[in-house]
Amino acid sequence: MTRRFSGIKPSGEMHLGNYAGAVQRWVDLQDDSIYCVVDLHAMTVPYEPAALQADSRRLAMLLMAAGLDPQRCVLFVQSQVPVVAELTWILNCVATVGELRRMTQFKDKDSGQESVSAGLLDYPVLMAADILLYGTEEVPVGEDQIQHVELTRDLAIRFNHRFGDTLVVPKATVPPVGARIKDLQDPTAKMSKSVDSPQGTILVLDEPARITKKIKAAVTDSDTTVRFDTENKPGISNLLSLLAAATGRPIPDLEAEYATGGYGTFKAAVAEAVVDYLAPLREQFSLLENEPGEVTRLLAEGAAKADAIAQKTITRVRAATGLLARS
Ligand code: TYM
Repeated sequence: MTRRFSGIKPSGEMHLGNYAGAVQRWVDLQDDSIYCVVDLHAMTVPYEPAALQADSRRLAMLLMAAGLDPQRCVLFVQSQVPVVAELTWILNCVATVGELRRMTQFKDKDSGQESVSAGLLDYPVLMAADILLYGTEEVPVGEDQIQHVELTRDLAIRFNHRFGDTLVVPKATVPPVGARIKDLQDPTAKMSKSVDSPQGTILVLDEPARITKKIKAAVTDSDTTVRFDTENKPGISNLLSLLAAATGRPIPDLEAEYATGGYGTFKAAVAEAVVDYLAPLREQFSLLENEPGEVTRLLAEGAAKADAIAQKTITRVRAATGLLARS
């Protein structure tokens, strides 16, 4: 079986881009896979400690509600397997400052800031450590993370070249639709939890009426034809991607069905499909909210399973890099 690993940051709520671009596929491909709430990554920008704890638990619950079954996959919170920090340090001595500075996500977050944490620059090395610690072959992500997975590949290849064949070289996989969901108010920017655009972002736990309102208010264009054309019709194309992700239907079929019916009818169909798509998740989440003890237990079990895999890798890495064995 193929070993998969992926992660999601507990900064703010899970949004529809996370769900359609990544989490949906994690649920479909969960056997022999490892999924992680990356709380250490959330510390790279200013945050509230109490909120981070609550958000990490909440996100883990959302992943369970979305369908990740801790009996079938390993689901854990990153910092509960602290050996990842050790591998990050070792990989820091393989990565170069130049390649980290070239990461587009670093450039986006760094620009206009007076001072950013060293952790923000180092973010992709921590991500590489996540992936490499677990012998990952495939990393299911949305398009925005491809560059980070490419860097992980480079680091693994460089490490193996320098220290002998030790790390599995992974590759990124993206979904056929939904890999790049855009902001509803600015369809040239990706839907994101950190951007200050509450009307442009659908949170997976938004009430149905709120989802419908946001989709009906989505920015489109002055034309009247429903057609997939990201260059000239970014808003309509984004809604088509959402409808395709929510229904599992191919975009050409949807274009044929909605081409001439008007934007109002089309938006109503998108809203209904997205509400239906998220309904099971909302229901499951409210059940889990009544079982906080069970969630804590499942996360502890997940961390123990992840740690067992991680220890094997770090033992090999320590030996290969010339560190003394731990007695
Ligand atoms: P994060 O938390 O920003 O996003 C989690 C996943 O959601 C995808 N995604 C999107 N997909 C489509 N459209 C969008 N608008 C959209 N926004 C987000 C992301 O591509 C991602 O797959 N650095 C990672 C977390 C991470 C990780 C890892 C991922 C840490 N370690 C190891 C994979 C492997 C991040 O910030 O994801």
